[in-house]
Amino acid sequence: MQQATIISPIKNRHWPEEGWTRVPYWVYSDPEIYQRELDTFFYGPSWNYVALDCEVPEQGCYKRSWIGERQVIVVRGENDQIFVWENRCAHRGARVCWKNKGKEESFTCPYHQWNFALDGSLQGVPLKRGVLRKGGMPSDFDNADHGLKRLRVHVEGGSIWASFHDDPPPFETFCGAEVLTALRRQFSGKGLRLLGYNRQRIPSNWKLYFENLKDPYHATLLHSFLITFGLWRADTQSESIPTDSGHSIMVSRNVGKKKTEAASEIKRFKEELELFDKDTVTPRNEFDDGKVVAVTHFPSVVIHQQANTFGMRHVIPKGPDSFELAWTFFGYEDDDEEMTRLRVRHANLYGPAGFVAMEDGEVLSESQLGTHHYAHRSAVVEMGGRGVEPQDHMVTEVLIRAFYKHYRELMGL
Ligand SMILES: [Fe+2]
Repeated sequence: MQQATIISPIKNRHWPEEGWTRVPYWVYSDPEIYQRELDTFFYGPSWNYVALDCEVPEQGCYKRSWIGERQVIVVRGENDQIFVWENRCAHRGARVCWKNKGKEESFTCPYHQWNFALDGSLQGVPLKRGVLRKGGMPSDFDNADHGLKRLRVHVEGGSIWASFHDDPPPFETFCGAEVLTALRRQFSGKGLRLLGYNRQRIPSNWKLYFENLKDPYHATLLHSFLITFGLWRADTQSESIPTDSGHSIMVSRNVGKKKTEAASEIKRFKEELELFDKDTVTPRNEFDDGKVVAVTHFPSVVIHQQANTFGMRHVIPKGPDSFELAWTFFGYEDDDEEMTRLRVRHANLYGPAGFVAMEDGEVLSESQLGTHHYAHRSAVVEMGGRGVEPQDHMVTEVLIRAFYKHYRELMGL
């Protein structure tokens, strides 16, 4: 990510001298830090996930989305072009669109009824010429100067990304080679099919969610469902791949339920845990590489492929101590009926009440509560050593260390 401006130090905030093996707890609660994160990451020269193109299938279809705390509208305009604009009237700043999804021919602000085309350009201003030759806009008022502020847009294999920055780096550069490869494995250009949504509010700092998905170590211990039924285990062939741009990739393999020496050491491997119907934990092999992949695409989304479920986990900060997590589940247009059924069935592992993800929401709120008013203390992230190099196992916190190396550089900390 490019550095936009020279950054001034934040008062009384000094990173522990151990460096990236420590995370000071003030990063989860300080309002000044939080505002700088929004400006630096979400509103800076970054690419943020906003929607899937299958959510806006026809001209006029739109979806309300978020980048950081800012609302934007994703809409399909003429000639299949995707537009993303600020959901903020060019006149007095009222939200132009109040619904999460729909289809419109144009958008009219509820306040003074300024009317905007699908591409955000201003089409009509009521009483522009006044009434009875009184009032109205100055004669040189030009609609062309007062459209909704458009964002830069990139569509990658059916996933839609946007940037507030006028000159962001190319999407490919922002991702980096490894993340781009992982992304294109799932978003290969095949048509996508929307399967459903979940939304939840988690009372913790938004970064803790990224850290959760940069922490394969916890998944081998916390999640009985993953460990016991072999969906994610420490004794499988796996990889933890950091990048120098805040993103990361975790790779594992589905091995099914089996007891090994390693598994028996793990308390939450529960041999007695059984399912009468194993459908939820029995994926059909889909990718030739046999891998299960989770990509944290900083700062806006975690992309998962687990069992046969695909999910975009959109991270929407709501202040330093809370965020919304918006899950979009999807498959491919050419999936057969059985595959679609499996994708929906396996989605039971995720979302607010998912057999696996439920536990993450709970522990993240615990971290937030535990660090509350302990801003002067720090987390220790030394699992798997103190370096930031890729590792061929998951008993490691390397992805968190690499993330905070990048974070400190951009935040000037
Ligand atoms: Fe987890």
